[in-house]
Amino acid sequence: MADQYAQSREHDGPMEIPAIRWDEPPEGPVVVLLDQTRLPAEEVELVCTDAPALVEAIRTLAVRGAPLLGIAGAYGVALAAVRGFDVEDAARALAGARPTAVNLAVGVRRAQAAYRGALSGGGDQRAAGAAALAAARALHREDARASARMAVHGLALLDELLPGGGHRILTHCNSGALVSGGEGTAFAVALAAHRAGQLRRLWVDETRPLLQGARLTAYEAARNGMAYTLLTDNAAGSLFAAGEVDAVLIGADRIAADGSVANKVGSYPLAVLARYHHVPFIVVAPVTTVDPDTPDGASIEVEQRPGHEVTELTAPQVPVVGVEAGGGIPVAPLGTQAYNPAFDVTPPELVTAIVTEEGVVSPVTAEALAELCDRSRQV
Ligand code: MRU
Repeated sequence: MADQYAQSREHDGPMEIPAIRWDEPPEGPVVVLLDQTRLPAEEVELVCTDAPALVEAIRTLAVRGAPLLGIAGAYGVALAAVRGFDVEDAARALAGARPTAVNLAVGVRRAQAAYRGALSGGGDQRAAGAAALAAARALHREDARASARMAVHGLALLDELLPGGGHRILTHCNSGALVSGGEGTAFAVALAAHRAGQLRRLWVDETRPLLQGARLTAYEAARNGMAYTLLTDNAAGSLFAAGEVDAVLIGADRIAADGSVANKVGSYPLAVLARYHHVPFIVVAPVTTVDPDTPDGASIEVEQRPGHEVTELTAPQVPVVGVEAGGGIPVAPLGTQAYNPAFDVTPPELVTAIVTEEGVVSPVTAEALAELCDRSRQV
């Protein structure tokens, strides 16, 4: 069950409501989300008292973005365990809520393994619940640390590739504090550049059809006092042609073993543009986003979203994602079919570098990625 309570907030300064938190009010434990479908108009908390509510929040994109999906998945398993629901059922439903971001399944498995481990070690249901929660909390903390490390490595890479500062960075979708236990992935690097006085402009793709760029990245950029400009996705070409982009920084939902990168649809065209215009195309993601079990880009399952997200415009300030068809303003003739993949895949040869908390991979090769994964397992 999900419940909502709203508070209107000013949009300046750091976000006051974290993207996700565990809470234990007298009525029992809950997972509290900042409902991202309501941003930037209002900061509304969505309180999930069971795993099905969290599954629904994941499907409707109230909670979204690869690292945060992992944290949400882990807390969802913990919620089921602590409240005494069927943990295996909950884990299956959570892991299957969205297919592309590998972090979701990774987070679910981690909490599930802690739960099972406690039970098989002779612990009771209560101890197993506590173990699942501890695993979720650890993942949450680790993601915050990884985010800070990615920002350090990413900033160093920008310094190396673009000496002299004054960076004009183009980003797509949303990859900041709204997707992370910390300040995010690609956005965290742009924020680090801003704090170092090296960011001249953040170009923010609006990111059709659900406007994660316009609603969420612009919101985060404004709150952080960054110089940013919003553009329609199809204006990126002319921006490159005008020589206004020094680097592209994006996150990732899954990185295959060969270095293919799945990210929000529209990322691949940016990679092609970047190559044509000799601009670095940089992917920033935690090691948990690298999936050694997915051999290549063709093996990545790309989520297909409902056509009405394309054939209808939703309310400008509060896009009603997840509502039934008919909830928005139609922009196409009735019955129009839409092609609406949520992600696309960029081949490794178009990726200049992958920045992780463990360091930078460049050039992007299967061997270098495998070595990175091995190194991170040893830590
Ligand atoms: O459909 P979304 O909003 O969950 O898509 C999110 C993205 O594509 C992000 O760019 C990606 O998760 C990387 S953010 C760290």
